[in-house]
Amino acid sequence: MAETLTLPKWYDLHTHFRQGANVATYIADHLAMGCAGALAMPNTKPPVARITGEKSDTSWSIEAYRDDLLAAGADAFDQLIIPLYLTRETTPSMIEEGAKSGLLRACKYYPPHGTTNAEHGVAMDNWIGSDVFRAMEEHGLVLCIHGEQHALAGPDYFDQKQTAESVFYTNSLPRVLDTHPNLKIVCEHITTKTAAEFVQSAPATVGATITPQHLIYTVGHLIQGLKYHLYCLPIVKFEEDRAALREAVTTEGQSKFFAGTDSAPHTTKATECGCAAGCYTGGCAPQLYAMAFEASESDLFSDSGEAELKRFLSTNGPEFYEFPVSTETFTMEQTPSKCETHQTDEGPVVPLPVGMDLELAWAITS
Ligand code: DOR
Ligand code: ZN
Repeated sequence: MAETLTLPKWYDLHTHFRQGANVATYIADHLAMGCAGALAMPNTKPPVARITGEKSDTSWSIEAYRDDLLAAGADAFDQLIIPLYLTRETTPSMIEEGAKSGLLRACKYYPPHGTTNAEHGVAMDNWIGSDVFRAMEEHGLVLCIHGEQHALAGPDYFDQKQTAESVFYTNSLPRVLDTHPNLKIVCEHITTKTAAEFVQSAPATVGATITPQHLIYTVGHLIQGLKYHLYCLPIVKFEEDRAALREAVTTEGQSKFFAGTDSAPHTTKATECGCAAGCYTGGCAPQLYAMAFEASESDLFSDSGEAELKRFLSTNGPEFYEFPVSTETFTMEQTPSKCETHQTDEGPVVPLPVGMDLELAWAITS
């Protein structure tokens, strides 16, 4: 009999459910992998940039997007957080009203043009010291940060000595913390040793999400055969970065790092003029995380190994976002399993293990 692991249902505190007919498929995949709740990113089309009101051609509200997700199956989650996309239209009174209504729990910073649908983002320098950040601090809202310096060219964007992420964590984020010491911050999908060390040494108000792909792969895996299904932003990095992330998640008692898959479905991945950024890990994320922990020399059948995975998947996220740990459980079995490509009307959505020809070493059994 294969060995099993039973944990409290986990939370994906960074994912993309998009919009339109495929949303129900993506949510169903999340529910099928023992996920009790999700933080659904607002870089939809149009972006989620208001708190209430009807959807318009240019923006969605948290209220209306939330209703659409609930109708598509998200009512089965016990938590659904939709951050407000920080744009030119964001005002301090929006923050205050949103916080008071309970609809607003987090805001998302996108570096302008830095990733998929990030064209509405406003550069970090404009937010530091702003009344919007001050209102967020005052109301205890979480700032979710895509931590990459925008508008860097060529070697400044990515080389061995620095990347857009390391520049951001070295030059920008310390200024955010200095100016807004009470702001709760999640450093999203961190990929570098620089970011991991920054989060480790930051106050308890700062946490971070880490994706399965950044714990499993390095840039060599992406380049060898140009495996574009592994292309996401921030891009997978070097071995010393992966080692730092692995160490961060497996450090005994760590409370700062938690699951946020950045599962990002794209129905057209490679195009003639480039590649859409995003790895789809719906349906297979806990299995991938378990594999990543094992690759980090964590024995998931030991008390300490199980506790490490449990903290990362099931308890640290709720503690940071201040909601209860799930009282339900899910079970994984250490046995090979597969996931399938979704053939949708908009095009195929290829899960990361299919795109990388990776067999899952775990299966969700209940
Ligand atoms: O790889 C990514 N995909 N990174 C992001 O920041 C956005 C996401 C998406 O929306 O596809
Ligand atoms: Zn994302």
